[in-house]
Amino acid sequence: MRPKRLWGGRFAAEEDPLFAEFNASLRFDRELIEADVQGSIAYARALERAGVVTAREKARLIAGLKTILKDHHNEPARIVRSSAEDVHTYVENALAEKVGSLALKLHTGRSRNDQVATDMRLYLMARCEEIEAQLAGLLRALAAAARRCHMVILPGYTHLQGAQPVLLSHYLLAYGEMFLRDRERLRKAVERMDVCPLGSGALAGTPYRVRREALARELGFSRISENSLDAVSDRDFVIDFLHFASVLMMHFSRMAEDLIIYSSAEFGFVQMSDSVASGSSLMPQKKNPDALELVRGKTGRVYGHLMAMLSTMKGQPLAYNKDLQEDKEGLFDTIQTVTSCIPMLRRVLETMSVDPERMRAQAESGYLNATEVADYLVARNIPFREAHHAAGRIVRRAMELGVLLKDLPIDEYRRISPLFSEDVYSWLDLENLVGRRIERGGTAPRQVGEALRRFVRKIGRTTPRRSRPASRPGLQRGLRRRPDR
Ligand code: ARG
Repeated sequence: MRPKRLWGGRFAAEEDPLFAEFNASLRFDRELIEADVQGSIAYARALERAGVVTAREKARLIAGLKTILKDHHNEPARIVRSSAEDVHTYVENALAEKVGSLALKLHTGRSRNDQVATDMRLYLMARCEEIEAQLAGLLRALAAAARRCHMVILPGYTHLQGAQPVLLSHYLLAYGEMFLRDRERLRKAVERMDVCPLGSGALAGTPYRVRREALARELGFSRISENSLDAVSDRDFVIDFLHFASVLMMHFSRMAEDLIIYSSAEFGFVQMSDSVASGSSLMPQKKNPDALELVRGKTGRVYGHLMAMLSTMKGQPLAYNKDLQEDKEGLFDTIQTVTSCIPMLRRVLETMSVDPERMRAQAESGYLNATEVADYLVARNIPFREAHHAAGRIVRRAMELGVLLKDLPIDEYRRISPLFSEDVYSWLDLENLVGRRIERGGTAPRQVGEALRRFVRKIGRTTPRRSRPASRPGLQRGLRRRPDR
């Protein structure tokens, strides 16, 4: 028997199977089943408050809904086999099997429009909690890596040309700052998403006294939506999330790109662990940084989902349109992508080895201390422009002779300025160079040590948890991370 549609009454003709297939969303929106049941349980309580169902009926509805979820967890394939139009239809049909015609009362005053908007927010808020926890793990791994290599010197680049040496820990903490801002963006997105649309009906609000504040509280939302038209038809909270995810992936991709370059034989600064690299089917010498390349590559699809959602929204007249059903697959794919990239990047950082000698040798050899020659003269009261010019001539001379600045004879220095003396060599030393960047934000070891301490303190600051209802009996499990995903 074909499952019942929720809207058959006014239709004389049978549904065209081509359309049924085209219109159906269960294939992907079954992902929302826990949120859908959770919303329905709260709504059953609301209907009792409104006097639509009795206390006994409410209890039967809730028991039925809980069984649906239990059945689902025991046999996830059941929903896959169903040919219901969407997850809401699936749950309602399943409820009718459990409690008979009473199930038909549950939808009083409710529309799939406010229902799906509620499901999406509930679902996404739960996923965001997992993502925040994963991010904390990544941040801790980054802090640990920065601690391990605190004094290692890395050539710093601009234009991918050797520029000035920095501490590797300083470099890592740069990404730490970016990831902290990403976490901030995630939290802000969750704050805005934390609004309950249920009780908005199809678009105009509900005539039943469901007491929306109580509904929101039961579902763990902090507030209720102000306007029913807005509540059922906007998806800016999805866009907020996709934006967060896009910026996060952009940061990941840059870090991946750096590490891919640094792991090439030409650089040799870092080595991926064998456990997160792969070989070539043809070239036996190869060890490819696939994990990082995939992180970089997956960034594109997340951007795509953001663009797709913005485009889906832009031409829709108020209020609900079926276009909105297109909000799901891109969102689910983004969540899947982000939740696979965060632990992967973390694993790469935890297992990667670094070669301090190679980094140092490169920092030594590329005239990365040339700026210091100018600063040496500035310390002797030469105006910077003039000092810069003299330093340029010294670098050119050293290049002509094929020596590093530290090996250029003192006479050569003195020929360009008599202000140079033997102490220029220790001035040019990379440790001293780095050590002079003592203003906050600079790469001096003491500064970076302080920055690391501040960073660790910030990581520790966990989410101000939203006020949770004391009990959401039996439902927490489904909204937590499932290991098989
Ligand atoms: N599957 C639909 C969606 O995702 C559910 C809402 C259907 N509402 C409607 N008026 N047809 O948006």
